[in-house]
Amino acid sequence: MPTHESLSVDQTLTLARTLAARLLSNDVLALHGDLGAGKTQFVRGLVAGLGGNPRQVSSPTFVLLHVYDSPAMRLPVYHLDAYRVTGSADFESIGFPELLAQNAVVVVEWPQRVADLLPPTTIHVRLTPTGPAARRIDIDPPPGRELGTP
Ligand SMILES: Nc1ncnc2c1ncn2[C@@H]1O[C@H](COP(=O)(O)OP(=O)(O)OP(=O)(O)O)[C@@H](O)[C@H]1O
Ligand SMILES: [Mg+2]
Repeated sequence: MPTHESLSVDQTLTLARTLAARLLSNDVLALHGDLGAGKTQFVRGLVAGLGGNPRQVSSPTFVLLHVYDSPAMRLPVYHLDAYRVTGSADFESIGFPELLAQNAVVVVEWPQRVADLLPPTTIHVRLTPTGPAARRIDIDPPPGRELGTP
């Protein structure tokens, strides 16, 4: 699933739901993009696609971590935001390395702040505004990982 053009929030949610269907236990997603690019909206779609309630999704900017889990979900989602961290030590102190082995999907906003903690298997998603309601969304799995099309 390399490059997509989203023309609305709904299209971003749909793309994220499609990706969610292909995710496996312990997958890590790095969501790149500037303020307001649509990273948190993308997480809404992921949670919905895994069977959760997208309305529960909000930005974990201050608490660093939100957990979405319910019996209806195929996999829990750990949603992290590194915007306010100064370095990897902050993420280590909330147990980030342990989260990578909890049979969940781990999603990180502002991943470049904690790049050295991300496993080589990380799926990179880049959101780039191309208009008020338009976003280019690039989804790059690591070598050898197929996510299918679209
Ligand atoms: N095609 C689109 N896809 C996603 N969001 C869109 C789109 N068009 C407009 N938007 C708007 O862009 C904003 C995206 O907000 P969101 O909180 O997801 O950004 P973010 O990347 O998480 O920012 P932050 O770095 O502050 O956490 C929302 O207000 C949303 O309505
Ligand atoms: Mg956000």
